[in-house]
Amino acid sequence: MGEYTVLVTGGTGFIGSHCCRDLLDNGYDVVIVDNLVNSSGEVIDRILELGNGNLYFYCLDVNDSDALARVFQRHAVDVVVHFAAHKAVRDSVGRPLEYYTNNVSGLLSLLAAMQSVGVQHLIFSSSCSIYGDSNDSALTEASPPSPTNPYARSKWMCEVILEDFCSQRPAWSVTALRYFNPAGAHSSGLLGEAPKGVPSNIVPFLAQLAAGRREVLEVFGCDYPTPDGTAIRDYIHVSDVVEGHRLALERGPDSGFRRYNLGTGVGTSVLELISEFEIASGRRLPYRLMGRRPGDVPQLVASPALARAELGWVATRTLTDMCRDSWRFQVANPSGYGALSPGARSEA
Ligand code: WQD
Repeated sequence: MGEYTVLVTGGTGFIGSHCCRDLLDNGYDVVIVDNLVNSSGEVIDRILELGNGNLYFYCLDVNDSDALARVFQRHAVDVVVHFAAHKAVRDSVGRPLEYYTNNVSGLLSLLAAMQSVGVQHLIFSSSCSIYGDSNDSALTEASPPSPTNPYARSKWMCEVILEDFCSQRPAWSVTALRYFNPAGAHSSGLLGEAPKGVPSNIVPFLAQLAAGRREVLEVFGCDYPTPDGTAIRDYIHVSDVVEGHRLALERGPDSGFRRYNLGTGVGTSVLELISEFEIASGRRLPYRLMGRRPGDVPQLVASPALARAELGWVATRTLTDMCRDSWRFQVANPSGYGALSPGARSEA
């Protein structure tokens, strides 16, 4: 695509970094804005190590609307992919205001900056957690929202804002992608999930447990109405997730607001996931059955039919692929990412 420029907020994060590499591989110019609050600047070096492409990085917070406006004035952005957000369920229960400030106000700041320069095409990182405690065994985009924690409510609020915004602006095109549980890593082992501190999400915790960085996995809840009593999720390979973003982006700026599930349609319990990761790592993984985690729900499994029909998107990678790739990244990066190398940063 050459001159087609995509601005990616949160582009040094787990999904964002894989998305940036995928866009560069497909000929897009990429501009990353990220405040590095839950990621490392070294990711920029890794993205560049994996291939060519025009990549720019600005270390800034999306709530810093002046700095954001300067980036939009410097680059002729065609479309924005908005990942930058806090995303841990339990964390959000303990600090809701940080989640609403970062996730909801951050979106409003981004929309103002886009509007100021006439960029009207947005791909928004949303979440299956919006569905909450649903009776639907296979959730469709028409399944009623029932968020059960501040993180999920912040994502639902963002979707409501975007839908209202688009209803008055026919020239705007916004696509909300509701991820289920992204997992895995880039096949090279150079990009993966490396949250700062103790991982809240189960897959990076399992990887660190297998590597001996953690002592035991606390299994949050064994009395759910599921076959083995542990909660069921729809784990989806991060590479499948980012392909969904590119297909949504390449669908072109259809006017209006759309939402799509990005899931496999396959549910996996916590105990099944532990077994799969033991196979991938060749390690026995100790766990302890605990009470339920506040904000959690028994099951979240997608119906991916709409994304298949309208975007031509299908997840192709398996849970085995996810565990294998996640373990490869852990082995290659025992302590996660390091710091940003000098000079890898642009100044807005
Ligand atoms: C998965 C299961 C836990 C940790 C994630 C993202 C969120 C959204 C949806 C994209 C649950 C259990 C976990 C642990 C455990 N994705 N668990 N012990 O909560 O489904 O949400 O997917 O937007 O951003 O956070 O993912 O990995 O935290 O939990 O038993 O130490 O594993 O109770 O049943 P979750 P998770």
